[in-house]
Amino acid sequence: MIAFEFNNPTKLIFGRGKLTALKTEIPKYGNKVLFLYGGGSIKRSGLYDNVIALLNEIGVEVTEQGGVEPNPRLSTVHKGVDLCKTKGIELILAVGGGSVIDCAKAIAVGAKYDGDMWDFLERKASPQDALPLGTVLTMAATGSEMNGGSVITNEETQEKMGWGSPYAYPAFSILDPVHTFSLPKDQTVYGVVDIMSHVLEHYFHPEDHTPVQDGFCETILRTVIDTAPKLINDLENYELRATIMYCGTMALNGVINMGMSGDWGTHNIEHAVSAVYDIPHGGGLAILFPHWMKHNQHVDVDRFKRLATHVFDIDPSGKSDEQICAEGIEALRTFWNSIGAPNRLADYDIDDSKIDIMAEKAVRFGPFGNFSKLEKADVIKIYNMSL
Ligand code: NZQ
Ligand code: ZN
Repeated sequence: MIAFEFNNPTKLIFGRGKLTALKTEIPKYGNKVLFLYGGGSIKRSGLYDNVIALLNEIGVEVTEQGGVEPNPRLSTVHKGVDLCKTKGIELILAVGGGSVIDCAKAIAVGAKYDGDMWDFLERKASPQDALPLGTVLTMAATGSEMNGGSVITNEETQEKMGWGSPYAYPAFSILDPVHTFSLPKDQTVYGVVDIMSHVLEHYFHPEDHTPVQDGFCETILRTVIDTAPKLINDLENYELRATIMYCGTMALNGVINMGMSGDWGTHNIEHAVSAVYDIPHGGGLAILFPHWMKHNQHVDVDRFKRLATHVFDIDPSGKSDEQICAEGIEALRTFWNSIGAPNRLADYDIDDSKIDIMAEKAVRFGPFGNFSKLEKADVIKIYNMSL
């Protein structure tokens, strides 16, 4: 276990009917609210009307910005920053999935910065302040509701990059599983893959002696594997939605991975794919992660064996180490395919024509990954394995 400091300032408000907490939370931060949302799902589900009704009840001045894209774009962030500066916004309220929340974080830091907030993604500057942010989550996936991370796409340069800051944590996040009932099956599956991938990014770490953290990871993985197949056939089941929602937040709010560095190479490789092809993040991970695993199986055989036996119940008797590892990786791939996740880059009509461009983007800041350092040649190999 490595040395660590842990601080997560987000107030988590979880459960049925908790939307009314807006009435007590919002007045703490101001009177001028930017209400940020995505492409219209909240209008169809009725959540938009419920939020507007509560905001009217509180009596705050509301500026609306809808249309945040999945894989949110820098131009949308710029629009939000302009609105905040011209309207004197005091609080951003993001209602949606990870994309809306990530966009809101970028607007929150951009509103307190004189330059272009893209500077933060290019590591030319770091945020020194931010507007407060409240969120109402509608999709279990990214964990953005309780972390300081955000991923933004610069559509002009076709770059998709992550950034993070202590200033970017939401002040409060409202998680009512009912708000995820309307999430269609395919997006539910992408969320499940993303949640499991976050846990796996922690699980493949270079540190020794992390028994509690490894156990947390395995419990979340086993829980998601048990819950997801039931959920995709019963999308409005409160308990199943609640379990997945809780797993999503816990997977990436810093609690389960204290004292471990994790790997995070697969996320970097996926972001380069979705920068060029604009595919869903979870879909890209489902394709790439098993191949990252095969490529790195030799790095720590015991770790892969542990995944196979502790998470997928592979019987090790009479099998070589290599066989046990391979069966564990195959069990993961089979599970994701069984719930409807894509299998190959070809499923998104991606061929080998832009592999070099994507690999170049992935290594933009140099070799990456903590469990296993990947060079450009490794990335190319993993893309080719995934075709
Ligand atoms: O835009 P609307 O109309 O709201 O529709 C969205 C969108 O089309 C829809 N949706 C969300 N909630 C719904 C719903 N439809 C019906 N009912 C609901 N309740 O689902 C679609 C996808 O939404 P999006 O927010 O894009 O998905 P997700 O939460 O997976 O976020 C993906 C983004 O987050 C980044 C990804 O790279 C990607 O850009 N990530 C952010 C992270 C973070 N901040 O910590 C970590 C992750 O690893 C990830 O990279
Ligand atoms: Zn992710």
